[in-house]
Amino acid sequence: MYIPSFSSAIADSVFPFNWLQDAMHAFIIYLAAFFATTPSSEVGSPSSGSEKYLIGLGIGDVTGPVVETNMMGYASLAQTDTGLHMRQRSRAFIVADTSNPSERILFINSDICMSDTGIRRTILSSLASRYGDIYTPANTALVGTHAHSGVGGYLENLLPQVTSRGYVNDTAAAIVSGTLKAIADAHNSLAPGNLKLGNTTLQNANRNRSPSAYLANPEWERAMYEGDQDWTVSVLGFEDTNGRARGLMSFFPVHGTSLYENNTLVSGDNKGMAAWMYESYIEPSSMPGNNSFVAGFVQSNMGDTSPNTLGAFCESPGKPWDGQPCEVEHSTCGNLTEDCHGRGPGFRISDFESNRMIGQAQFEATRTVMEGNNMTRVSGSVKSVHVYLDMTNYSFTLPNGTLARTCPAALGYSFAGGTSDGPGAFDFTQGHNSSQPSNPFWEIVKIFITPPPSEEQIACQYPKPILLNSGYAHEPYDWAPGTVDVQMLRVGQFVILVMPGELTTMAGRRMREALRVKLIADGILDNRAYVVIAGPGNTYGHYVATREEYGVQRYEGASTIFGPATLEAYINRYSELVLHLADNDTGSPLSNAAPLEQTSKSISMQNPVIVDHPSIFKDFGDVLIDVESSTYYAGDTVAVRFVGANPRNNLRLEGTFFTVDQQVNGEWVVIRTDSHPSTTYKWNRTSTVLGTSTVDARWTIEDGTPAGTYRITYYGDAKSFLGDISAFTGVSSTFTVN
Ligand SMILES: *[C@@H]1O[C@H](CO)[C@@H](O)[C@H](O)[C@H]1NC(C)=O
Ligand SMILES: *[C@@H]1O[C@H](CO)[C@@H](O)[C@H](O)[C@H]1NC(C)=O
Ligand SMILES: *[C@@H]1O[C@H](CO)[C@@H](O)[C@H](O)[C@H]1NC(C)=O
Ligand SMILES: *[C@@H]1O[C@H](CO)[C@@H](O)[C@H](O)[C@H]1NC(C)=O
Ligand SMILES: *[C@@H]1O[C@H](CO)[C@@H](O)[C@H](O)[C@H]1NC(C)=O
Ligand SMILES: *[C@@H]1O[C@H](CO)[C@@H](O)[C@H](O)[C@H]1NC(C)=O
Ligand SMILES: *[C@@H]1O[C@H](CO)[C@@H](O)[C@H](O)[C@H]1NC(C)=O
Ligand SMILES: *[C@@H]1O[C@H](CO)[C@@H](O)[C@H](O)[C@H]1NC(C)=O
Ligand SMILES: *[C@@H]1O[C@H](CO)[C@@H](O)[C@H](O)[C@H]1NC(C)=O
Ligand SMILES: *[C@@H]1O[C@H](CO)[C@@H](O)[C@H](O)[C@H]1NC(C)=O
Ligand SMILES: *[C@@H]1O[C@H](CO)[C@@H](O)[C@H](O)[C@H]1NC(C)=O
Repeated sequence: MYIPSFSSAIADSVFPFNWLQDAMHAFIIYLAAFFATTPSSEVGSPSSGSEKYLIGLGIGDVTGPVVETNMMGYASLAQTDTGLHMRQRSRAFIVADTSNPSERILFINSDICMSDTGIRRTILSSLASRYGDIYTPANTALVGTHAHSGVGGYLENLLPQVTSRGYVNDTAAAIVSGTLKAIADAHNSLAPGNLKLGNTTLQNANRNRSPSAYLANPEWERAMYEGDQDWTVSVLGFEDTNGRARGLMSFFPVHGTSLYENNTLVSGDNKGMAAWMYESYIEPSSMPGNNSFVAGFVQSNMGDTSPNTLGAFCESPGKPWDGQPCEVEHSTCGNLTEDCHGRGPGFRISDFESNRMIGQAQFEATRTVMEGNNMTRVSGSVKSVHVYLDMTNYSFTLPNGTLARTCPAALGYSFAGGTSDGPGAFDFTQGHNSSQPSNPFWEIVKIFITPPPSEEQIACQYPKPILLNSGYAHEPYDWAPGTVDVQMLRVGQFVILVMPGELTTMAGRRMREALRVKLIADGILDNRAYVVIAGPGNTYGHYVATREEYGVQRYEGASTIFGPATLEAYINRYSELVLHLADNDTGSPLSNAAPLEQTSKSISMQNPVIVDHPSIFKDFGDVLIDVESSTYYAGDTVAVRFVGANPRNNLRLEGTFFTVDQQVNGEWVVIRTDSHPSTTYKWNRTSTVLGTSTVDARWTIEDGTPAGTYRITYYGDAKSFLGDISAFTGVSSTFTVN
């Protein structure tokens, strides 16, 4: 690990833009550091108030093209986005050791389905050119919230690209630029502060979707825990030296599948909702994404954990089993998976209501911890460790002395069955049934079909029946990852295990317990050690089920790609690395080689925007359907249709496709943007030949909206035949809210 000299680290990293401020702050930080390192303040002892961290927080817009692009998560070819519910954000959290600011961590929580090796590589190389050796593969973690309603096409491996028709550069570029913006804001806001830690119990916001697999875990082990999902919400609070809260990270396992696969409006799902709720609760007048208080709702061991808390039921109109619970072991209705759907708590009202409720539950629980005066001060060193691990054939010794190994990736049959959160996956039946519409990307790549598994691979993956031998498929580029990121971040007694996949409930419990025991046994932390799981982070290595769950081969077991010993391999390798979290450690662990770059080989089939035209006798931004009435009340929805243009022409990152404006003292003031959950933006290409399209802007008026005069303004960007793009606006008639 590179350790710059103390003074250059301050100058380079803390306040780089104003030398006078630099000098003053550097002096204050120097003093703080001096006191922190005097013998009266023992490392690891509860802080007396002198031991502070440098903390920085930032937020950035990562929303890719909100139309004509496949959405990431359900792997449904039909789920092409048509507009926007809420923008996706990256939230960056930096913690540096005041006495040695080169010891720092950068944790990025992004409203994307999962992190990706290619995106991480691009971000790290930009960070290197911008900040030198300050942010490194070791100390920088990129973690997805597992939202299933974000824009797709950004992953580097081939398999997740099947439904997005290859790589979508615009999506990847938006994630990179918004994340870099979040990091820059975090870096520029670095200031002394404190961290505190607490937890609470949250029930009825998640439910195990594979309870029959969970039951395969030993009874004595299950008896140690309440329930077949984790209910703990763990909160890391960030505050300035005056005790004012600056932000938080809240860890809770629940899939980002509150919005179903029939939703086509881009959204951050329940974690994005929780984050917006918290941020707007602290800064009610800030527009979404323009806040300085940053709330990261981080995904945890949610592999088998659904937000569909009412359970899974058959939606089979006309069939005797319509409305009945699905068959439990296979999640089927009349022997088919397609009709079995989980139901969220707002099922009777709307899918968006379930999303709101699961978001709100996480927000409220986190607020209880933050405002509860029962949080523990975090104190001690800032440390990080990262290695690449080749999971295609990792050999190690199990605790009982038996040798074990992992295998090249493969997916089992149940993978294609999907889950009750989203039945059926990755469109595999397309190639098998020629009477169904064919997927052009699949048509190209299927000629590189996965090679049949060898006897060795079949034995290694046993008892998984192999559907896709993806670890042996490298043409035209790798279908599945072989090398993943193993990473741990430590701040004082708080340790984050950044996992390259989706751990099931019990897999997460085993991982956390094993690492906590190891940290204490090796004298790295005392029994204050508090260990959490964050993921899917860095590389997407699919699922991680326990060996017993793997045997049952539900979706999670079938998607545990590196074989039955996957979890044990991670426990083994992470445990070996805990010594690098010790206060005095300066060593560099041995690492496998980084995975090879393959973004440059990727096939992209997304057509560019050809042209936009207003219809005859119209102009862009003209109102086609105006507000219906001159007076509205809370609960009403105002809807306006404009002559539109393709929003792919300009993603308007950090901006908005429309605003709701209120007249205040004769001036129009923006009170809502396209990212408020009370608004939706929908685009419709009305004629491909003519290049015409419409935009629907809607606002459902919240309780408490002040009475007054309002209007809706649309911001569009049209592409001409020559290819240049010009901005335009459209404005509705005014209306009053009473
Ligand atoms: C992808 O997007 C980035 C960032 O906008 C751009 O620099 C790059 O040229 C694009 N690549 C392709 C293949 O379009
Ligand atoms: C909550 O935090 C307390 C204090 O650190 C700890 O004893 C307890 O185990 C935590 N609960 C869970 C479920 O982690
Ligand atoms: C979306 O799918 C869910 C689950 O199948 C269903 O209950 C709901 O009615 C669907 N919504 C719409 C608008 O079709
Ligand atoms: C964002 O906040 C800054 C100040 O914090 C303010 O100057 C700016 O106008 C805000 N932008 C929007 C779009 O609200
Ligand atoms: C489901 O499969 C079972 C066993 O093959 C069979 O007995 C049953 O009739 C099937 N049910 C339906 C509705 O097809
Ligand atoms: C406060 O936190 C401690 C652990 O840090 C826990 O044991 C105790 O139950 C909590 N008290 C309340 C009122 O939540
Ligand atoms: C895994 O490694 C062992 C030796 O360590 C070797 O015998 C075996 O062929 C390897 N398997 C694969 C799939 O590479
Ligand atoms: C050790 O554990 C593995 C995995 O549970 C098991 O397959 C193996 O039989 C065990 N070996 C012994 C000697 O108990
Ligand atoms: C293909 O699938 C469709 C819809 O599921 C079905 O109607 C059709 O019979 C199938 N064709 C063949 C050849 O199996
Ligand atoms: C770190 O400290 C521990 C305990 O004080 C000691 O055993 C170990 O050798 C030290 N390691 C290094 C690399 O200095
Ligand atoms: C989009 O426009 C076409 C052509 O006017 C119309 O047929 C279709 O119903 C519209 N779709 C939506 C979702 O409004």
